Amino acid sequence: MTHVIVLGATGSVGKAVAEILAIHPEEFVVEGLVANKSNQALWELGQRLGARWIGLTDENACDPITGRLNGPEVVRGMPEILDHITDSPHSKVVGAMSGFSGLVPTLVAIEKGHDILLANKETMVAAGDLVRSYAAASGSQIIPVDSEHSAIFQCLAQDQPVRRLILTCSGGPFRGRTQTELKSVSIAEALNHPKWSMGKKISIDSATLMNKGLELIEAHQLFGVSYEQIDVVIHPQSIVHSMVEYMDGATLAQLGQPDMRVPVQVAFSWPQRWPLPTLPLDWSSLNLTFEKPDEKTFPALALARDVGRLGGMMPAIFNAANEVAVQAFLQQRIPYLGIVQTVEATLEKMQHNEPITTLDTVLHADRWGREMANLVITQRF
Ligand SMILES: NC(=O)c1ccc[n+]([C@@H]2O[C@H](COP(=O)([O-])OP(=O)(O)OC[C@H]3O[C@@H](n4cnc5c(N)ncnc54)[C@H](OP(=O)(O)O)[C@@H]3O)[C@@H](O)[C@H]2O)c1
Repeated sequence: MTHVIVLGATGSVGKAVAEILAIHPEEFVVEGLVANKSNQALWELGQRLGARWIGLTDENACDPITGRLNGPEVVRGMPEILDHITDSPHSKVVGAMSGFSGLVPTLVAIEKGHDILLANKETMVAAGDLVRSYAAASGSQIIPVDSEHSAIFQCLAQDQPVRRLILTCSGGPFRGRTQTELKSVSIAEALNHPKWSMGKKISIDSATLMNKGLELIEAHQLFGVSYEQIDVVIHPQSIVHSMVEYMDGATLAQLGQPDMRVPVQVAFSWPQRWPLPTLPLDWSSLNLTFEKPDEKTFPALALARDVGRLGGMMPAIFNAANEVAVQAFLQQRIPYLGIVQTVEATLEKMQHNEPITTLDTVLHADRWGREMANLVITQRF
């Protein structure tokens, strides 16, 4: 049986993971489930899945569920959670926390030699070099869960040199709009993704196309392919989840309904495929279209490519500034167009780029990016 720890168990990806664990109870022992403050939801999930422990990073949120009988052990705060991750037997750890907060537990899990099923793209963007070097040292495997990267992972099964990777992108809720039309869009409109139901941060990232920018860097880090060899194509139907073009021109794609349970289950079952009750594609009524991204209206894509090429601390600063700006937008402190403007202005202030070789360097870059982005917001908006 496979031992499992889920970081971000109460979120949108976490729920897909819980469904897969519940569908195949004979395959799994649930060691631990981690969230921030959703105490009741985590407790119920822990009971339902028979988890040995549940951990909340917000210690105050532990109080109402501590001391309850007939359920998992309650683990209080990040340091204790990290100890439990280290003390667990060899496990598959699902990285489904949102944002940079997923980095430290992921690195601790890798150090221990656990395998990582990674949805938390911000970890790979901010510290991809570090994650890869920790994994090389411990022998831990990183298996993508992000649907595009899972598609590429599946299409790369032959392990042959590739000409390019093609990431598909739904275009988000504002596809076809101009910058002028985007000046006063509301939070509700930005959260209203046409195809996927997801957490708030990734939904806003999808509306700015920052999500695809983060995924470009994630793809570069996961598959070791240069930025010149990664293209993005808009595919509004979200049926083709991404493609790999081989040196002979043959292009392999992975298709299916937009359903996160599929990449989650593939990450657990690979190289096998397990049954899963999913909606089949109706081929005779499919109308698949593809178009170039409008990089003038959505500058986040080009910005991510530039930042990725620069490397070092720049992707971590890019990610930190974006997290701050998305939060500010959700709190109505900046307009939608202010998100990418904040990220651009933060990056412009960076004078001394350095390679990321230690956790301290990445924590420093993240802190600097957050402070500078907050300053930009205070001064500009
Ligand atoms: N949603 C998708 O379809 C999708 C697809 C591909 C990739 N991803 C990536 O997967 C990650 C999660 O996305 P999501 O949409 O599932 O996010 P979400 O719905 O907002 O859920 C986030 C989860 O992380 C937990 N969390 C947040 N901050 C934390 C902290 N400081 N300490 C511990 N736990 C914390 C939350 O706990 P609480 O409930 O207590 O707040 C929740 O369980 C993101 O990196 C996203 O880019 C998501």
